[in-house]
Amino acid sequence: MRDLDQFATDVLTGLKQPVKRLPSKYFYDETGDKIFQEIMGLEEYYLPRCELEILQEQTSDLAAFLPAGPLDIVELGAGDGTKTVHFLENLGALGRSLTYYPLDISPEVLQTNRSHLKNVAPDIPVHPVAGDYFKTLPTLQTTHHWVLLFLGSNIGNYPNEKAVELLQFLSQHMSTDDVLLVGVDLRKHPKTILDAYNDAKGVTRRFNLNLLTRINRELGANFQVEHFDHFPVYDPVTGIAASYLVCRQAQKVSLLGETFLFKTNELIHTEVSQKYSLSEIEQMAQSGGFRDVHHFTDHRDYFSVSVLLK
Ligand code: AVI
Repeated sequence: MRDLDQFATDVLTGLKQPVKRLPSKYFYDETGDKIFQEIMGLEEYYLPRCELEILQEQTSDLAAFLPAGPLDIVELGAGDGTKTVHFLENLGALGRSLTYYPLDISPEVLQTNRSHLKNVAPDIPVHPVAGDYFKTLPTLQTTHHWVLLFLGSNIGNYPNEKAVELLQFLSQHMSTDDVLLVGVDLRKHPKTILDAYNDAKGVTRRFNLNLLTRINRELGANFQVEHFDHFPVYDPVTGIAASYLVCRQAQKVSLLGETFLFKTNELIHTEVSQKYSLSEIEQMAQSGGFRDVHHFTDHRDYFSVSVLLK
Protein backbone atom coordinates (compact mmCIF):
# COMPACT_ATOMS: atom_id res chain seq x y z
CA MET A 1 0.00 0.00 0.00
CA ARG A 2 1.31 3.49 -0.84
CA ASP A 3 2.05 5.83 2.08
CA LEU A 4 -0.85 8.13 1.20
CA ASP A 5 -3.30 5.21 1.04
CA GLN A 6 -2.07 4.02 4.43
CA PHE A 7 -2.47 7.54 5.84
CA ALA A 8 -6.02 7.76 4.42
CA THR A 9 -6.95 4.31 5.76
CA ASP A 10 -5.58 5.07 9.23
CA VAL A 11 -7.38 8.42 9.42
CA LEU A 12 -10.72 7.00 8.23
CA THR A 13 -10.44 4.05 10.64
CA GLY A 14 -9.51 6.33 13.55
CA LEU A 15 -12.37 8.76 12.97
CA LYS A 16 -14.88 5.89 13.01
CA GLN A 17 -13.96 4.80 16.57
CA PRO A 18 -16.37 5.53 19.45
CA VAL A 19 -13.78 8.01 20.75
CA LYS A 20 -12.25 9.41 17.59
CA ARG A 21 -8.49 8.96 17.32
CA LEU A 22 -5.62 9.81 14.99
CA PRO A 23 -2.21 8.07 15.10
CA SER A 24 0.58 10.27 16.46
CA LYS A 25 3.04 9.01 13.84
CA TYR A 26 1.31 11.39 11.40
CA PHE A 27 2.42 14.47 13.38
CA TYR A 28 5.71 14.40 11.51
CA ASP A 29 5.22 16.08 8.13
CA GLU A 30 7.66 18.85 7.17
CA THR A 31 5.92 21.39 9.42
CA GLY A 32 5.50 18.84 12.23
CA ASP A 33 9.24 18.02 12.09
CA LYS A 34 10.05 21.73 12.47
CA ILE A 35 7.61 22.21 15.35
CA PHE A 36 9.04 19.13 17.05
CA GLN A 37 12.51 20.72 16.86
CA GLU A 38 11.03 23.76 18.64
CA ILE A 39 9.51 21.47 21.29
CA MET A 40 12.94 19.94 21.90
CA GLY A 41 14.25 23.40 22.82
CA LEU A 42 11.41 24.28 25.22
CA GLU A 43 12.15 24.89 28.89
CA GLU A 44 9.19 22.68 29.94
CA TYR A 45 10.19 19.80 27.63
CA TYR A 46 12.98 18.44 29.85
CA LEU A 47 13.37 15.07 28.05
CA PRO A 48 16.16 15.79 25.50
CA ARG A 49 18.33 17.65 28.02
CA CYS A 50 18.11 14.78 30.50
CA GLU A 51 18.98 12.18 27.89
CA LEU A 52 21.86 14.26 26.59
CA GLU A 53 23.24 14.65 30.11
CA ILE A 54 23.28 10.85 30.48
CA LEU A 55 24.84 10.25 27.06
CA GLN A 56 27.49 12.92 27.63
CA GLU A 57 28.42 12.15 31.20
CA GLN A 58 27.97 8.42 31.62
CA THR A 59 29.22 6.89 28.39
CA SER A 60 32.22 5.25 30.01
CA ASP A 61 30.09 3.52 32.72
CA LEU A 62 27.59 2.51 30.07
CA ALA A 63 30.36 1.19 27.81
CA ALA A 64 31.14 -1.47 30.43
CA PHE A 65 27.93 -3.25 29.35
CA LEU A 66 28.65 -3.16 25.62
CA PRO A 67 30.05 -6.16 23.73
CA ALA A 68 33.84 -6.35 23.27
CA GLY A 69 35.43 -5.57 19.88
CA PRO A 70 34.23 -3.37 17.02
CA LEU A 71 30.57 -2.29 17.25
CA ASP A 72 27.77 -1.64 14.81
CA ILE A 73 25.63 1.13 16.28
CA VAL A 74 22.13 0.69 14.85
CA GLU A 75 19.75 3.53 15.71
CA LEU A 76 15.98 3.14 15.27
CA GLY A 77 14.20 6.38 14.35
CA ALA A 78 17.58 8.12 14.26
CA GLY A 79 16.34 11.54 13.09
CA ASP A 80 19.13 14.07 12.51
CA GLY A 81 21.51 12.33 14.93
CA THR A 82 22.45 15.49 16.86
CA LYS A 83 22.16 13.79 20.25
CA THR A 84 23.64 10.46 19.22
CA VAL A 85 26.80 12.05 17.89
CA HIS A 86 27.94 12.85 21.45
CA PHE A 87 27.54 9.23 22.44
CA LEU A 88 29.43 8.08 19.33
CA GLU A 89 32.23 10.57 19.92
CA ASN A 90 32.56 9.52 23.56
CA LEU A 91 32.64 5.84 22.60
CA GLY A 92 35.25 6.63 19.95
CA ALA A 93 37.32 8.46 22.57
CA LEU A 94 37.23 5.27 24.67
CA GLY A 95 39.00 3.55 21.78
CA ARG A 96 35.94 1.68 20.46
CA SER A 97 35.83 1.09 16.72
CA LEU A 98 32.36 2.00 15.42
CA THR A 99 30.15 1.89 12.36
CA TYR A 100 26.89 3.83 12.54
CA TYR A 101 23.64 2.66 10.90
CA PRO A 102 20.95 5.34 11.33
CA LEU A 103 17.50 3.92 10.44
CA ASP A 104 14.67 6.34 9.76
CA ILE A 105 11.48 6.53 7.71
CA SER A 106 12.60 9.85 6.19
CA PRO A 107 15.41 9.83 3.55
CA GLU A 108 15.66 13.65 3.93
CA VAL A 109 16.37 13.53 7.65
CA LEU A 110 18.97 10.79 7.00
CA GLN A 111 20.80 13.13 4.60
CA THR A 112 21.00 15.70 7.39
CA ASN A 113 22.12 12.98 9.80
CA ARG A 114 24.92 11.86 7.48
CA SER A 115 26.22 15.40 6.80
CA HIS A 116 26.11 16.20 10.51
CA LEU A 117 28.09 13.07 11.36
CA LYS A 118 30.60 13.75 8.58
CA ASN A 119 31.20 17.26 9.98
CA VAL A 120 31.41 16.39 13.64
CA ALA A 121 32.86 12.86 13.63
CA PRO A 122 34.40 12.31 10.17
CA ASP A 123 36.14 9.07 11.19
CA ILE A 124 32.95 7.15 11.93
CA PRO A 125 31.57 5.33 8.84
CA VAL A 126 27.85 6.06 8.39
CA HIS A 127 25.39 3.82 6.49
CA PRO A 128 21.93 5.41 6.53
CA VAL A 129 18.99 3.07 5.91
CA ALA A 130 15.66 4.65 4.89
CA GLY A 131 12.36 2.90 5.56
CA ASP A 132 10.17 1.45 8.27
CA TYR A 133 12.54 -0.21 10.76
CA PHE A 134 10.23 -3.20 11.15
CA LYS A 135 11.13 -3.93 7.52
CA THR A 136 14.72 -2.66 7.32
CA LEU A 137 16.14 -4.09 10.56
CA PRO A 138 15.70 -7.78 9.60
CA THR A 139 17.52 -7.21 6.29
CA LEU A 140 20.43 -5.17 7.67
CA GLN A 141 23.86 -6.33 6.43
CA THR A 142 26.30 -5.78 9.30
CA THR A 143 29.45 -7.51 10.48
CA HIS A 144 29.90 -6.77 14.19
CA HIS A 145 27.95 -6.94 17.41
CA TRP A 146 25.01 -4.56 17.58
CA VAL A 147 24.38 -1.75 19.96
CA LEU A 148 20.76 -0.96 19.14
CA LEU A 149 19.64 2.54 20.10
CA PHE A 150 16.02 3.47 20.65
CA LEU A 151 16.30 6.89 22.24
CA GLY A 152 14.24 10.01 22.87
CA SER A 153 11.44 8.27 24.82
CA ASN A 154 10.05 7.10 21.47
CA ILE A 155 9.07 3.86 23.21
CA GLY A 156 6.59 5.95 25.25
CA ASN A 157 4.55 6.63 22.11
CA TYR A 158 3.62 2.93 21.99
CA PRO A 159 0.89 1.78 24.35
CA ASN A 160 2.52 -0.61 26.84
CA GLU A 161 1.46 -3.89 25.16
CA LYS A 162 2.76 -2.59 21.79
CA ALA A 163 6.02 -1.53 23.46
CA VAL A 164 6.43 -5.11 24.71
CA GLU A 165 5.78 -6.45 21.19
CA LEU A 166 8.39 -4.04 19.85
CA LEU A 167 10.95 -5.28 22.40
CA GLN A 168 10.11 -8.88 21.44
CA PHE A 169 10.69 -8.02 17.79
CA LEU A 170 14.04 -6.43 18.61
CA SER A 171 15.23 -9.23 20.88
CA GLN A 172 14.31 -11.80 18.20
CA HIS A 173 16.59 -10.03 15.73
CA MET A 174 19.49 -9.60 18.15
CA SER A 175 22.29 -12.13 18.74
CA THR A 176 23.53 -13.04 22.19
CA ASP A 177 25.87 -10.24 23.39
CA ASP A 178 24.10 -7.59 21.29
CA VAL A 179 22.62 -4.88 23.52
CA LEU A 180 19.69 -2.48 23.31
CA LEU A 181 19.79 1.04 24.79
CA VAL A 182 16.35 2.52 25.36
CA GLY A 183 15.71 6.16 26.35
CA VAL A 184 12.74 6.19 28.74
CA ASP A 185 10.95 9.09 30.38
CA LEU A 186 10.40 8.26 34.05
CA ARG A 187 7.44 8.89 36.35
CA LYS A 188 7.90 12.08 38.34
CA HIS A 189 5.78 14.93 39.76
CA PRO A 190 2.62 14.93 37.62
CA LYS A 191 2.79 18.68 37.07
CA THR A 192 6.30 18.49 35.59
CA ILE A 193 5.02 15.91 33.10
CA LEU A 194 1.82 17.78 32.26
CA ASP A 195 3.74 21.04 31.71
CA ALA A 196 6.02 19.26 29.21
CA TYR A 197 2.95 18.71 26.99
CA ASN A 198 1.29 22.05 27.77
CA ASP A 199 4.03 24.62 27.26
CA ALA A 200 3.39 28.29 27.91
CA LYS A 201 4.31 29.37 24.37
CA GLY A 202 1.76 27.02 22.81
CA VAL A 203 4.29 25.16 20.65
CA THR A 204 2.84 21.74 21.56
CA ARG A 205 -0.62 23.13 20.79
CA ARG A 206 0.56 24.00 17.25
CA PHE A 207 2.14 20.54 16.95
CA ASN A 208 -1.14 18.82 17.83
CA LEU A 209 -3.31 21.07 15.63
CA ASN A 210 -0.95 20.65 12.67
CA LEU A 211 -2.25 17.11 12.34
CA LEU A 212 -5.64 18.45 11.23
CA THR A 213 -3.98 20.95 8.86
CA ARG A 214 -2.04 18.05 7.35
CA ILE A 215 -5.22 16.00 6.87
CA ASN A 216 -6.88 19.01 5.20
CA ARG A 217 -3.93 19.47 2.84
CA GLU A 218 -3.02 15.89 2.00
CA LEU A 219 -6.42 14.20 2.13
CA GLY A 220 -8.59 17.15 1.01
CA ALA A 221 -10.55 17.40 4.28
CA ASN A 222 -12.16 20.60 5.58
CA PHE A 223 -11.52 20.62 9.32
CA GLN A 224 -12.06 24.10 10.77
CA VAL A 225 -8.80 23.86 12.65
CA GLU A 226 -9.30 27.18 14.46
CA HIS A 227 -12.26 25.63 16.30
CA PHE A 228 -10.18 22.93 17.97
CA ASP A 229 -8.25 23.14 21.27
CA HIS A 230 -5.16 21.28 22.38
CA PHE A 231 -5.92 19.34 25.59
CA PRO A 232 -3.18 17.27 27.26
CA VAL A 233 -3.82 15.16 30.37
CA TYR A 234 -1.58 13.11 32.62
CA ASP A 235 -2.78 10.25 34.83
CA PRO A 236 -0.17 9.63 37.55
CA VAL A 237 -1.78 6.28 38.39
CA THR A 238 -1.26 4.70 34.95
CA GLY A 239 1.69 6.91 33.93
CA ILE A 240 -0.08 7.79 30.69
CA ALA A 241 0.25 11.30 29.28
CA ALA A 242 -2.34 11.63 26.53
CA SER A 243 -3.09 14.44 24.11
CA TYR A 244 -6.50 15.27 22.73
CA LEU A 245 -8.00 17.78 20.35
CA VAL A 246 -11.32 19.17 21.56
CA CYS A 247 -13.87 20.47 19.10
CA ARG A 248 -15.12 23.82 20.40
CA GLN A 249 -17.74 24.39 17.72
CA ALA A 250 -19.80 21.59 16.16
CA GLN A 251 -18.82 20.91 12.57
CA LYS A 252 -19.28 18.51 9.67
CA VAL A 253 -16.03 17.36 8.11
CA SER A 254 -15.90 15.90 4.60
CA LEU A 255 -13.07 13.53 3.99
CA LEU A 256 -12.51 11.22 1.02
CA GLY A 257 -16.21 11.05 0.16
CA GLU A 258 -17.33 10.47 3.75
CA THR A 259 -18.79 12.88 6.29
CA PHE A 260 -17.85 13.00 9.97
CA LEU A 261 -19.87 14.89 12.54
CA PHE A 262 -18.04 16.56 15.40
CA LYS A 263 -20.20 17.68 18.31
CA THR A 264 -19.25 20.59 20.56
CA ASN A 265 -16.66 19.32 23.09
CA GLU A 266 -16.11 16.08 21.20
CA LEU A 267 -12.59 14.68 21.54
CA ILE A 268 -9.99 13.31 19.16
CA HIS A 269 -7.27 11.29 20.90
CA THR A 270 -3.95 12.00 19.19
CA GLU A 271 -1.06 10.73 21.33
CA VAL A 272 0.07 8.52 24.19
CA SER A 273 3.37 9.25 25.98
CA GLN A 274 3.73 6.51 28.56
CA LYS A 275 5.93 7.24 31.59
CA TYR A 276 7.61 4.36 33.42
CA SER A 277 9.19 3.56 36.77
CA LEU A 278 12.49 1.68 36.73
CA SER A 279 10.75 -1.50 37.89
CA GLU A 280 8.15 -1.14 35.12
CA ILE A 281 11.00 -0.91 32.59
CA GLU A 282 12.43 -4.13 34.06
CA GLN A 283 9.08 -5.94 33.76
CA MET A 284 8.65 -4.72 30.20
CA ALA A 285 12.19 -5.83 29.29
CA GLN A 286 11.60 -9.27 30.77
CA SER A 287 8.32 -9.68 28.84
CA GLY A 288 10.17 -8.49 25.75
CA GLY A 289 12.72 -11.33 25.98
CA PHE A 290 15.66 -9.62 27.73
CA ARG A 291 17.51 -11.25 30.63
CA ASP A 292 18.96 -8.22 32.43
CA VAL A 293 18.66 -4.43 32.62
CA HIS A 294 20.95 -1.65 33.88
CA HIS A 295 19.67 1.91 34.25
CA PHE A 296 21.58 5.17 33.80
CA THR A 297 19.61 8.18 35.02
CA ASP A 298 20.20 11.94 35.00
CA HIS A 299 20.92 13.88 38.21
CA ARG A 300 17.19 14.46 38.92
CA ASP A 301 16.14 10.89 38.01
CA TYR A 302 13.80 12.29 35.38
CA PHE A 303 14.95 10.04 32.54
CA SER A 304 16.71 6.72 32.07
CA VAL A 305 18.90 5.31 29.35
CA SER A 306 18.36 1.63 30.14
CA VAL A 307 20.70 -1.05 28.82
CA LEU A 308 18.82 -4.25 27.97
CA LEU A 309 20.89 -7.40 27.68
CA LYS A 310 19.76 -10.32 25.63
C1 AVI B 1 8.63 11.79 20.05
N1 AVI B 1 8.00 11.64 21.36
C2 AVI B 1 8.85 10.90 22.26
C3 AVI B 1 7.48 12.89 21.95
C4 AVI B 1 6.84 12.61 23.34
O1 AVI B 1 7.28 13.23 24.30
O2 AVI B 1 5.95 11.77 23.42
C5 AVI B 1 6.50 13.57 21.03
C6 AVI B 1 5.88 14.80 21.63
N2 AVI B 1 4.60 15.06 21.68
C7 AVI B 1 4.39 16.22 22.25
N3 AVI B 1 5.57 16.72 22.62
C8 AVI B 1 6.52 15.85 22.22
